[in-house]
Amino acid sequence: MLKDKYYNLIKEHGFVNEPIPNNTDLIQEIALLKYAKNAVILGHYYITAELQDISDFLGDSLALSQQAKKTDAEIILFVGVNFMGETAKILNPTKKVIVPDLNAGCSLAESATAETFEAFKVLYPDHKVISYINCSAEIKALSDVIVTSSNAIKIVESFPKNQPLIFAPDKNLGNYINSVTGRKMVLWNGACMVHEKYSLEKILKLMVQHPDVVFIAHPECESQILMVADFIGSTTALLSFVSKSDSNEFIVATESGILHQMQKKCPGKMFIPAPSIDSTCGCNDCSYMKLNTIQKMYLALKHEQPEIILKPEIIEKAKIPILRMLELSI
Ligand code: 13P
Ligand code: SF4
Repeated sequence: MLKDKYYNLIKEHGFVNEPIPNNTDLIQEIALLKYAKNAVILGHYYITAELQDISDFLGDSLALSQQAKKTDAEIILFVGVNFMGETAKILNPTKKVIVPDLNAGCSLAESATAETFEAFKVLYPDHKVISYINCSAEIKALSDVIVTSSNAIKIVESFPKNQPLIFAPDKNLGNYINSVTGRKMVLWNGACMVHEKYSLEKILKLMVQHPDVVFIAHPECESQILMVADFIGSTTALLSFVSKSDSNEFIVATESGILHQMQKKCPGKMFIPAPSIDSTCGCNDCSYMKLNTIQKMYLALKHEQPEIILKPEIIEKAKIPILRMLELSI
């Protein structure tokens, strides 16, 4: 059966691996498939510029969740990483959610398995669990509320001051929230492999070379980086900050994909990617986000595979803390 053939190709590669004729106009084919199948493309700011430009809706983790929940398209092609596709499926389970490549994981999501996290929770029986959206559906199902970098402080502050809290899986975001709110949340020891690679020394050197530069950073960065930042915020907050700022030069400590939107919104301004410890590693690129390609998007839409499949009981349990987050984000 044709379906079995694709199932095997996905099992082997994580995506449908089929030769595409050289003369295929992929942008046009994607547009036709979207129309024929009533599909919508949701893309995160960290995907490549080419893919951002063909997304129907581009956003940060929070905006994409809100969009996934309200879409009336039959198929959601989620161009980001798996935890985002899972969140879309949890919020809109009757829709078919497909992704270009099932290998698009996340170092934060992978730091916590359901078993290890359950064992961790047992150590703190009176604690409420706040989880960053960058975690698997299973971890969400074990959480009291989900947050993104846009709403984390507001949601943490919605708990009474004397309520003990666990924050997972990002220790850097957790540390940052603790420092802003004065809380002492117990932190899970996870980190983003992109945001933990910035070099303080090289950033400070750049600041000396560009005396008027404004340094902006995502809260997934380590505390010594955040300490010297002029502004800290989610991808959407960073984008809005550079648009409104009177400054013309920025050092940007977050994944490089966002620079495309910054440059588009502010063509006259200069954006310098924050340097990493290792200048040869291309560390500013999230290798998971960059697994998404236009070819894989086309094949995913054509075959409606690979699909995000979650157990109904996980969907039911994980939906509760995500909906709580959406209510608290209004
Ligand atoms: P936001 O989209 O909330 O800014 O988070 C960035 C991120 O790391 C996504 O993986
Ligand atoms: Fe995960 Fe970091 Fe990649 Fe975001 S940038 S998907 S947090 S590994």
